[in-house]
Amino acid sequence: MTDKPFLYVVVCAAGVAADVSNLITAAQERDWEVGVIATPTAMNGFFDAAAVETETGRPIRSAWRRPEDPRPFPAPDAVVVAPATFNTVNKWAAGIADTLAVGTLCEASGLGVPIAVLPCVADALAAHPAYQDSVSRLRGMGVRFADPYAGEAERDDERGKSGWERVLDLLRHD
Ligand SMILES: Cc1cc2nc3c(=O)[nH]c(=O)nc-3n(C[C@H](O)[C@H](O)[C@H](O)COP(=O)(O)O)c2cc1C
Repeated sequence: MTDKPFLYVVVCAAGVAADVSNLITAAQERDWEVGVIATPTAMNGFFDAAAVETETGRPIRSAWRRPEDPRPFPAPDAVVVAPATFNTVNKWAAGIADTLAVGTLCEASGLGVPIAVLPCVADALAAHPAYQDSVSRLRGMGVRFADPYAGEAERDDERGKSGWERVLDLLRHD
């Protein structure tokens, strides 16, 4: 147990998830204690789960606990959704809590926990009206969106920051 604030990192099934260790390292350097919640699809080879468990010192959560089991993570002080997929953003906005990841996001929004999102959604999908409505609805709930991220190949933005750093910056003043 530590006194550090606890950050949930919600990982969705986007190609960029392969580099999510970079986000975890950056968060830990900013003094967050990190626990990862991944979608079931993300657990299907999108990132190195064993490496992430070593890095965080905690099992990755992907399914709901059994009722008699204790809560595996402390309550979150903040949540980062990175990478965020088209699918998860739309389900979250619609309140379709069919994964632990989306259920956690729906609840965190309601509890007023600060949430920052790094969307990794191709332009063709982002143009879909349902996605635009979802982002607008979530913004209206106070959710903070970083600019879309296409991965390490995109290299850092003009301020010299990666997408992982940009999304963490959105939580800086909490
Ligand atoms: C190799 C690969 C890369 C993908 N990358 C993305 C992506 O960057 N963004 C996205 O929205 N979906 C991407 N998808 C599609 C999602 O995996 C798919 O929509 C899935 O249902 C998302 O599930 P989740 O939101 O529960 O994680 C990718 C799929 C594959 C196979």
